[in-house]
Amino acid sequence: MIAVANLTKTFAGPRPRRVFESITFSIERGEFVAIVGESGIGKSTLLNLVAGLERPDSGSITVDGVDLCSLSDDALTVMRRQRMGFVFQSFHVLPYLTVAQNVTLPLALLRHHGANAQSRTTEVLRAVGLEDREQSMPRELSGGELQRVAIARALVHRPAIVLADEPTGNLGPDNATQVIALLRECAKSNGATVLLATHSRTAAAAAGRVLALSTQNVTPVALAAEQ
Ligand SMILES: Nc1ncnc2c1ncn2[C@@H]1O[C@H](COP(=O)(O)OP(=O)(O)O)[C@@H](O)[C@H]1O
Ligand SMILES: [Mg+2]
Repeated sequence: MIAVANLTKTFAGPRPRRVFESITFSIERGEFVAIVGESGIGKSTLLNLVAGLERPDSGSITVDGVDLCSLSDDALTVMRRQRMGFVFQSFHVLPYLTVAQNVTLPLALLRHHGANAQSRTTEVLRAVGLEDREQSMPRELSGGELQRVAIARALVHRPAIVLADEPTGNLGPDNATQVIALLRECAKSNGATVLLATHSRTAAAAAGRVLALSTQNVTPVALAAEQ
């Protein structure tokens, strides 16, 4: 589903910053993979590259059989809308829209309106346990609930890939565990592949596979015995 080969990325500027050099890894369809590494190592940059939001210096990124480097910016936007879902640390739930309106946004961007879009929105909200909050405003929700809204929104259009960047960074430990379990279960029932970037070992423990990112390598991390 995701194949990264010999990927090198540098941020230009007065003091150019090479984030990683010639890294290679791949992720199978339906996998839930955590990318771990210390703050500043390049986890967000890697997710942005896989999302086509950044372009690499060299190397290739193939997502669902498509070479991202061959696509124009417009084609990348379309691909993102159709095939990707996103969950962020700071939720990115829009404050002036209801919970249901937030969740339905990816469908609206794909011009899916009407009864089908509505019933799909209800379905994913039920899956994250927020079926009775459809008409609530985000300010009425807790952090854990907001992240469940974000998970519903990330999955509503049945994307092939979900990219989650530190999704538990603003949550307490109990909420964090619950949100990751929910992300894993919901992604599984939707057949989505998940790439989770996190510095939290607890969050990574829920993944099927853990990869450690460093400047020149992506290396497998052995899972704890209880996994
Ligand atoms: N747009 C940018 N311009 C310049 N440097 C950047 C930019 N984005 C990230 N960086 C640098 O790249 C490195 C990796 O950042 P990031 O991917 O955010 O790390 P992580 O998510 O692992 O904390 C950091 O040193 C950061 O300062
Ligand atoms: Mg980051």
